[in-house]
Amino acid sequence: MAVSRAEKTVAESASEMVQVVLPNDTNPLGNVLGGRVMHWIDLVGAIVAYRHCHGPVVTVSIDRLDFRHPIKLGEIALLKARLVYVGRTSMEVLVDVFVDDPPAGTRKQTSTARVTYVAIDKKGRSVPVPGLRVTSDPERRLFEESLARRRAEGRA
Ligand SMILES: CC(C)(COP(=O)(O)OP(=O)(O)OC[C@H]1O[C@@H](n2cnc3c(N)ncnc32)[C@H](O)[C@@H]1OP(=O)(O)O)[C@@H](O)C(=O)NCCC(=O)NCCS
Repeated sequence: MAVSRAEKTVAESASEMVQVVLPNDTNPLGNVLGGRVMHWIDLVGAIVAYRHCHGPVVTVSIDRLDFRHPIKLGEIALLKARLVYVGRTSMEVLVDVFVDDPPAGTRKQTSTARVTYVAIDKKGRSVPVPGLRVTSDPERRLFEESLARRRAEGRA
C-alpha cells in the first residue's frame, strides 16, 4: 500500500529500458511507430512511480511529445526515466528517449516526455506517496520548475 510519507531519493526509483526495434514496432518506412514509443515511455515511467510508492499507479497525464529523429528497424532505443516532482498522491516522471548506433558509437536524443502518475488503493482512490528528497542542484531545479508549473495550473 502506498501510505508512507517518508522521503525517498530520485536515484532510488530511476529506471532504464532498452528496446531493439523489431519489424512489428515499425511503420512501412521502417521507422518506429510513435505509438510504440509512447507505450514504452508510459511503461518505464510507471516502473519509476511504482518503485517510488511500492503500490499500484495509474497514468493521469502525458505532456507534449515531439519526435526529433527517427528510430529505425534494428536500432536500439534507450529510455531513461526519473522522478522530477512528487506531490501528495501524484508523481511526475521525466523520460528521455535516445537512439543508439553501436557500430558508429553514437547516441542521439529523440524525445522527452513528462508523465504524471497517481497512486491508488484497491478501490481506485488516490492515496499519499512518499515525498521526494532532491540531492543535487539539477534535481532541485527540475522540482521547482514542476512545482511552479503546477501552481500556475492551480494544482499545488
Ligand atoms: C487518477 C485518479 C484516481 C485521480 O482522482 P482524484 O484523486 O479524484 O484526482 P485529484 O484531482 O484529487 O488528483 C490527484 C492528484 O493528481 C494530480 N493530477 C490530476 N490531474 C492531473 C493532470 N492532468 N496533470 C497533472 N497532475 C494531475 C493532482 O494535482 C493531484 O496531485 P497531488 O495529490 O500530488 O496534489 C482519477 O483521475 C482516475 O482514475 N483517472 C483515470 C486514470 C487511468 O485510468 N489512467 C489510464 C489511462 S486511460
